[in-house]
Amino acid sequence: MSTNSALVYMDNSATTRPFPEVIETMAGIYSEQFGNPSSLHRMGYESEKLVRKARKSVASLIGVGEDQVYFTSGGTEANNWAVFGSLRSAGPRYKHVITSVVEHPSVLAVMDYLQELGYRVSVVPVDSEGRVDPDEVLSLVEDDTCLVSMMFVQNEVGCVEPLAEIGAGLSRLGPRRPRFHVDAVQGFARLDIDVDKWGVDLLSVSSHKIHGPKGIGALYIRKGVPMHPLIFGGGQEQGLRSGTENVPAIVGFGQACDIWAQIARKARPRLYELRKRLIDGVRTVFPDAVLNGPELDNAAPHIVNFSFPGFRGETIVNALEQRNVFVSTGSACSSRKSKPSPVILALGKGEEEALSAIRFSMSPLTTRKDVDATVSAVEDALKELGPWRRKST
Ligand SMILES: Cc1ncc(COP(=O)(O)O)c(C=O)c1O
Repeated sequence: MSTNSALVYMDNSATTRPFPEVIETMAGIYSEQFGNPSSLHRMGYESEKLVRKARKSVASLIGVGEDQVYFTSGGTEANNWAVFGSLRSAGPRYKHVITSVVEHPSVLAVMDYLQELGYRVSVVPVDSEGRVDPDEVLSLVEDDTCLVSMMFVQNEVGCVEPLAEIGAGLSRLGPRRPRFHVDAVQGFARLDIDVDKWGVDLLSVSSHKIHGPKGIGALYIRKGVPMHPLIFGGGQEQGLRSGTENVPAIVGFGQACDIWAQIARKARPRLYELRKRLIDGVRTVFPDAVLNGPELDNAAPHIVNFSFPGFRGETIVNALEQRNVFVSTGSACSSRKSKPSPVILALGKGEEEALSAIRFSMSPLTTRKDVDATVSAVEDALKELGPWRRKST
């Protein structure tokens, strides 16, 4: 066991290390360009210019116009706003929303609250890879359905949801169709987004998952879609999201988007290659490992989730940490709770598999060496933790 080897960070779906250029730029803004974009003097104007430039960068990576991007404090706020803002603007006639069982807690917890408030919530199940059936989603639409909220890439198992099919089906319903919200936090930058092809009205993104700073994200709101604010105050963000702009974070987010725009094309095939290397490697050292989520088709490039039957997820996390490899048991928000992952259970897996699931998540900064070190650490850790159950021996 090596305790002094380099850190191998394989938890990029929880958060990422900010790009060094981003940190440098943000430091400069904190110390020099700290004006409030709303101020009438030159320092305010300079800050406003920085925010405008960053908005352009974020909009460009999403593939939308900059006047349709509203900064928020992150993916959680964007998701909350998409749901509450839609219901408020749709009015009291609309009492129904549709979502999936594998959404992030920043959607599902809102749904729980909506039920307390008297709304009806249809929660669509998923198949063994974590994907919803678009026909099932569409079959649930009723006259008073306000919103369909679906994620792009599932954060624990990395499946890509069939958004184009859902969006096309919703569009066929005509002008009274429910609006379509997509939580794109895990797919943004790693995969292409096409809001027009998918018929998306609202889309959430977050900066800290793409090597930008924490505490900043954005909601795309299609032009012409009426939207109520979630946060009221001084009227920033075209009156829809009040609060003094977090200029350093906004600029850092914009810069991270610019960097992704340069690297995404090359990073994707490389990540798929690393993903395969990791899957093959883990299966070689522990043949009983069960892959959760898709093997290749409909898989995002950066997430690999394995169950290690016979072991507990937290125990593996700790054993890997001792070997300087950092992973998680599931979504970051629930990883400190020793409960079976509801997402793995939703895939139809048993409690044993749900309690032993480990998520490895990569980024363009991940190297082959990191993947190989991870596989070695898994082999070493499982050997130490339990009966060695290699099938070939
Ligand atoms: C799919 C998904 N949605 C939303 C969020 C929340 O984003 P943030 O951490 O920016 O609030 C996360 C973060 O883990 C996520 O994975």
